[in-house]
Amino acid sequence: MMKKKREITLCMGSSCFARGNARTLEVIRTFLKEHDIEAGVFLKGSRCEGLCSKGPVVRVDDAVYTGVSPDGIEEILLREFGEGEDVHD
Ligand code: FES
Repeated sequence: MMKKKREITLCMGSSCFARGNARTLEVIRTFLKEHDIEAGVFLKGSRCEGLCSKGPVVRVDDAVYTGVSPDGIEEILLREFGEGEDVHD
């Protein structure tokens, strides 16, 4: 049986978006595809997380990551999702 769907929330507010989340979104999309976990992860955007000064902000389930860069997101994704096995059934 499929485990509960994981969720990535990317702040798409103007501050975070302009400071890196536009590119980070593409990196996340590519990661999900390459690890074949697109079906188990719900990717969504938020308008503002209220943490603009600490942005760019990305949430993975309940974990809030601040100061995320397009270069740093892969390390976070690997930590959260490993090679993808924990989101498969
Ligand atoms: S724009 Fe991202 S926290 Fe405000």
